[in-house]
Amino acid sequence: MFKYVIPIILSYLIGSLPFSFIVGKYIGGIDIRKHGSGNTGATNVLRTAGKKAFIIAFLGDFLKGFIVAFSAKIILNLETAVICSVFVVLGHCYSMFLGFKGGKGVATAAGTIFALYPLIGLILLIIQILILMAFNIMSLASIIVSISFPIVSILFKTPKYYIYYSIFIGLFVIYKHKSNIKRLISGNESKISFK
Ligand code: G3P
Repeated sequence: MFKYVIPIILSYLIGSLPFSFIVGKYIGGIDIRKHGSGNTGATNVLRTAGKKAFIIAFLGDFLKGFIVAFSAKIILNLETAVICSVFVVLGHCYSMFLGFKGGKGVATAAGTIFALYPLIGLILLIIQILILMAFNIMSLASIIVSISFPIVSILFKTPKYYIYYSIFIGLFVIYKHKSNIKRLISGNESKISFK
């Protein structure tokens, strides 16, 4: 058990680095917590600070997940990499630099998924893009991908602890989208544009 303590702390700290917030502040010149959806995620950077800022924010949030999961997989093992993945996502969503608040975990979780099972990452990315092209609503695409993640992980016969990870992340990301779900039901969810 003790062997997990340092990887967990490091993963949480790296996950806590709030790239979308930083990009919003220093490139967009705004506090994204006070604009758009108020979420400190790349989608809200796109909405409030534009496409270039979105790309940088997304890469930052994606790469912290990717780097944590990939290095844990290479240096330690897949099981520890899955535990580290949980904590890098929790760091992103409950950042110690933002008063234990943060984003909804989508970009950071995507980074971990690409690091651990790139093919699953690719399939989920295609689902995300297709839903986005059909409806222009990022939250809807994220929710459908969250539902798809455990299903795809089971279909690919990934190890038991990875399937638990996919179920946890799937449910957690849906939980983080509760305000979006209310807006989707009432028809008030904002659409996004990459133009
Ligand atoms: O990745 C988060 C996205 O699914 C929703 O973001 O800003 O529309 O709440 P937002």
